[in-house]
Amino acid sequence: MKPSRSLVLVVTGSIAAVKTLPLIGALRSKNFDVSVILTRAPETFGWVTCDTLRDASVESVLTNVSAEEEKSRLLNGANAVLVAPASADFLSRMTYERSPFIQAIVNASASPRHLMVAPAMNTKMWEHPAVQRNVSALNRLGAVILGPVSGALACGVQGFGRMADPELLACGSAAACDGQPHETLAFYDLARRVKTARPAFKKNGHILIALGGRGDEDDVRRLASSVQRSGLTADYVLAPSWKPRAARIASIVGQDVVTDYGQVDGLDGLEHIRLPERAGCVFFPFLDQETAQNAVHGQAGSLFLALILASKAPVAAPSSRFAALPSSLAQSLHEDGWVCLDDFHDILASRIDL
Ligand SMILES: Cc1cc2nc3c(=O)[nH]c(=O)nc-3n(C[C@H](O)[C@H](O)[C@H](O)COP(=O)(O)O)c2cc1C
Repeated sequence: MKPSRSLVLVVTGSIAAVKTLPLIGALRSKNFDVSVILTRAPETFGWVTCDTLRDASVESVLTNVSAEEEKSRLLNGANAVLVAPASADFLSRMTYERSPFIQAIVNASASPRHLMVAPAMNTKMWEHPAVQRNVSALNRLGAVILGPVSGALACGVQGFGRMADPELLACGSAAACDGQPHETLAFYDLARRVKTARPAFKKNGHILIALGGRGDEDDVRRLASSVQRSGLTADYVLAPSWKPRAARIASIVGQDVVTDYGQVDGLDGLEHIRLPERAGCVFFPFLDQETAQNAVHGQAGSLFLALILASKAPVAAPSSRFAALPSSLAQSLHEDGWVCLDDFHDILASRIDL
């Protein structure tokens, strides 16, 4: 029998994290000694807990609150690192963040060590150009991308974005470490042939307004009165930096505003997918440079940002806000399918087909 190899399993913020225990079992049957690092989301949303992992007798368990040095030491000492599930947000962090923790993961892509990454997300997120850029950048660095596969997704649709089954991930990881062929290693080639055309505006009289960036309460008042006069209905989602003002904004717009996952009845915590589904467009009236940069990097660490990747509706911002951005950034947004509106009245005047 081959000697066992040490593997650190990094579990990130996709609901596929509920498969962590079967995945650990499958990895152990392939002779991996498994340690686990959880990011914040899987614990926060209750998909997997430290206690269940300790009961599964893994070598060690570290979490979001563990010291960076401890995580780096564990990662640097392992033969292999598997990020499964890899959320869209974590793919962006691995591509752009330079913290010791993230760097220790990315370093495992250099021979003789191994980095495997198993993306898991909604089809729209997977097809988003920013996500595709991040995955191929990691692949070019030497990470082995395992999947995703096409199948039933947590949000109820069928398509690419499903994490490959635990057995296949374990076989694929072992094959990647041994430099052997395995069917799982070809899944990414199938999944990357996505069509990235952005959707058209829908004519349904309802929009999703994402409030973040530089805007004051008078701006919101003007916007809300335009919405009301137009006969449109709207859902409002706030960026984390706007959360302290949530009560005041709610009173200005005359309805509840959404700041977090799990807040809207009947959406099962899937606000990032379901809110844009019922809207004709997602509008960022106060788009600023930070949001634009995060969008181009495919970050989804808040509901506000996740809307951009998961949107089934076109994502739009006023042309005045585009004009205030560095031109290369504005160009990147255009290339990713963002729509430029001369102002909100474009929507009202039905130059945009709502
Ligand atoms: C119910 C629910 C399911 C989610 N499923 C996914 C998913 O499958 N893939 C994904 O990329 N993000 C998903 N998200 C969003 C991520 O959890 C969110 O972007 C989070 O900030 C990612 O954190 P991380 O950087 O720790 O992965 C989901 C959120 C909720 C509330």
